[in-house]
Amino acid sequence: MHIRHLSLTNFRNYGRLELDLPLGPILLHGDNAQGKTNLLEAIYYLATTRSPHADQDAQLINWIAAQSEEPIVVCRLVADVAAAAEKRQIEMRLIQEVNLSGRNGGRTFRREALVNRRKVRLMDLLGKLQVVQFLPEDMQLVTGPPGNRRRYMDITLCQIDPIYCRQLSQYNKILEQRNALLRRLAEGRGKRDVLPIFTEKLIKLGSEIFRRRAMFLANLARETHRIHYEELTEGKETVRLGYLPRLQENGGRRADELIALEQLGEWLQSHVDDADAVQARFEQALAAALPTDMVRCTTSVGPHRDDWRFWINGRNLASYGSRGQQRSAILALKLAEIHWMTKISNETPVLLLDEVVAELDEHRRALLLTYIKELHQALLTATDPGMFTKDFLRQATTMAVENGRVIPDKI
Ligand SMILES: Nc1ncnc2c1ncn2[C@@H]1O[C@H](COP(=O)(O)OP(=O)(O)OP(=O)(O)O)[C@@H](O)[C@H]1O
Ligand SMILES: [Mg+2]
Repeated sequence: MHIRHLSLTNFRNYGRLELDLPLGPILLHGDNAQGKTNLLEAIYYLATTRSPHADQDAQLINWIAAQSEEPIVVCRLVADVAAAAEKRQIEMRLIQEVNLSGRNGGRTFRREALVNRRKVRLMDLLGKLQVVQFLPEDMQLVTGPPGNRRRYMDITLCQIDPIYCRQLSQYNKILEQRNALLRRLAEGRGKRDVLPIFTEKLIKLGSEIFRRRAMFLANLARETHRIHYEELTEGKETVRLGYLPRLQENGGRRADELIALEQLGEWLQSHVDDADAVQARFEQALAAALPTDMVRCTTSVGPHRDDWRFWINGRNLASYGSRGQQRSAILALKLAEIHWMTKISNETPVLLLDEVVAELDEHRRALLLTYIKELHQALLTATDPGMFTKDFLRQATTMAVENGRVIPDKI
């Protein structure tokens, strides 16, 4: 699939942008702080309803507009998308209203999603534009906390699997309610007989999430291993991606706990088609954790505490891998993600690459560029287009980004 036209109003440093986007690779170049990353962020936001950079969505509204005296400020992102079977228009609106009686300095904030000009739930926007994004900070997937890896899994899966997305959102609500009840029970309030009702719902939804994640990671692991082994390290190194489902209480910090969780991951992989077995296992885990959970007033097992890790030549990549090895593993993961999305949805995703090309050596860069040629559209950013080969620049459309404006040019 590809984006034919992008229109932005009051988004970051884009007051107003109307931009036709061609097929093939598009190189956005320009000095620092001109709006290259912001443009990719807008596309990612339309695809996933999440920003990879802002902690609060309100930060995405152009700050001059946001601070104006206008009673209502709308930030609009619209993309005309061409997919294999149909064309569609998707839109996100971030709306800030001045509400004189309200708190927060009298400002309220809300979001709206539209498909073909009809309002839909935010969730229904997912999958309408599929993207794979690769940022320099994706290295954090190797070394950062488990929350980063869960977020990556959820955002990627939600683009392709609407059922997963719905179940995840329901699971998070039930989890919140269950934890609130555990707190009330600890304070001597609340009804104990409600707990099994929440627990039962949690088991049904949670076990589905476990199964879908296990399937996803198994697919991704296979392809990541192949790309890494065959195409990146010429048979010298093996990378393994292991699922660590939180189906038991212990944290997964010590080496033996990691091994135990990984064994559970393998067990899950072999039971992805057996919903009853996964439910029974999760039920057992919740029951075993209940005494401590009652004291801590939280639910310590379940997919909300999942993790996954890379292993390189049998060792933990985060602790033992060099920066170069970590970079290769992430590149293999991203290329595997493109492969997985294309296979599952019969659509090639739009690839978004912010600054990463500069960080890759020649071999890795060449591999990435061969993958880009297979896609309908890829947007790359660089401060220095000189790092691309003449051959690549001939095939790419180049555009200069200057202070919130985008000007097609020729390099
Ligand atoms: N809400 C906002 N309203 C207006 N401007 C903003 C907003 N948020 C960020 N900016 C500004 O947008 C500008 C462009 O940022 P962006 O990250 O896109 O630059 P870039 O071209 O990717 O630069 P670099 O090469 O340094 O990565 C920055 O000067 C930033 O301060
Ligand atoms: Mg940038």
